[in-house]
Amino acid sequence: MPQLSETDQEIFPVSAGIDDDGEITIGGCAVSELADEFGTPLYIYDEDTIRHMCRLFTRGFKDAYERSHIEYSSKAFANPALAKIIADEGLHMDVVTGGELVFAKAANFPAERLNFHGNNKDREELAEAIDYGTGRITLDSFHEIGLLNEVAGEKGVRQKVLLRVSPSVDPHTHLLTTTGVLDSKFGFSIETGAAADAVEQAMAAPNLEVMGLHFHLGSPIFELEPYSQAIDYVLKFAAEMREAHALPLTEFNPGGGFAVGYVGEELPPPISAYAEEISVAVRSGCDRYGLEEPLLTVEPGRSIVARAGVAVYQVGGIKRIPNVRVYVSVDGGMGDNIRPALYSSEYTVRRPQQPYASPTEKVTVVGKYCESGDYIAKDVELPVLKSGDLLCTPTSGAYSVPMASNYNMTTRPAIVMVKDSTARLIRRRETYEDLLATSLV
Ligand code: LLP
Repeated sequence: MPQLSETDQEIFPVSAGIDDDGEITIGGCAVSELADEFGTPLYIYDEDTIRHMCRLFTRGFKDAYERSHIEYSSKAFANPALAKIIADEGLHMDVVTGGELVFAKAANFPAERLNFHGNNKDREELAEAIDYGTGRITLDSFHEIGLLNEVAGEKGVRQKVLLRVSPSVDPHTHLLTTTGVLDSKFGFSIETGAAADAVEQAMAAPNLEVMGLHFHLGSPIFELEPYSQAIDYVLKFAAEMREAHALPLTEFNPGGGFAVGYVGEELPPPISAYAEEISVAVRSGCDRYGLEEPLLTVEPGRSIVARAGVAVYQVGGIKRIPNVRVYVSVDGGMGDNIRPALYSSEYTVRRPQQPYASPTEKVTVVGKYCESGDYIAKDVELPVLKSGDLLCTPTSGAYSVPMASNYNMTTRPAIVMVKDSTARLIRRRETYEDLLATSLV
């Protein structure tokens, strides 16, 4: 019985396998059959993997720190079908815009389990969040402290909030996805004294109930140490603020950012290792600074959904430049996955049919967009391809579809959710009519 290679088993969905015809299946569905039925480019999400990751996180953190909960960061992939699974698994969820809030509402996501993040929430967004009964709002600027206090006052609500602080810790990831350093638009800097001023202002605001502190270092973070370093620094700050302004640390949220394996050579630590590092740091910091142990929340986005998603493309033209490079063009690219162009992110590429066949050749898989930087993967070894073949990229479930665009007036792909050998459409492919619908002649 053919099998996925050992490293592919780590990065493809948990339900993936190879059928008797030698083809990759996900959730019991052959990739080529899904491509025939729904077209390409296609994003396949595996429900079993999403549930598996929710449970790994919940159990991993509960085992290490009983009073903890997991908050899925919906920017990684916001979809009502997914939000229902997240709610069903008992997780909390964060949103960062009115748009993400609308998706949460569409899934009837329990309001008390929502946290509204973001560095520039406007009056309307805050009003909508309060009206829905959003459990927590995380404040990121002095402007937001004043604005939320005002909006909550108008509605006669005392809103529970967290303050986002910046601990000046570099988690050694891509500059564009680093958020907790001094030179960042996110959070009140502890180093400059802004965080102390924010605590003072928020504690004095009559319509805000401060529940504790939050920080987020960036992502993906392959190292464990930046978490404990930042946790210690922020807990020390919390103790100082308890003395100075009676800040309660009922809740503490050290963010998300847990890494996933995009390529077999670079796999992250297991979730239990992140849970252990964070829990030990929180417990020992509380002990050191005389704080009561708070309710602990972490906010994984990527690590809940990345492995669940597989993108499928069809090969069009193949250009061979002797002694230079072989370009394989597919029918998607930077419009559905801008991550390689934006962050030089690496992806594994497989031909779903006979993925490990030989002979192989080294190729660069590029998209159909009018940009030289439009590529999916550089210099990957694949069976010799022909036009019409399918290619798939595992670990495509996070930040591809949410960052997709209509560049070159292309339509964004269809998305299906698979489980137990059935596939259901959870977002239909856009049409040219959709593209024209918002333009006025
Ligand atoms: N919490 C906060 C406050 C965040 O800003 C983020 C991500 C998360 C949680 C979730 O991080 P995760 O666990 O997903 O790494 N577009 C980039 C990632 C940007 C992440 C922004 N914030 C990418 O494609 O890699």
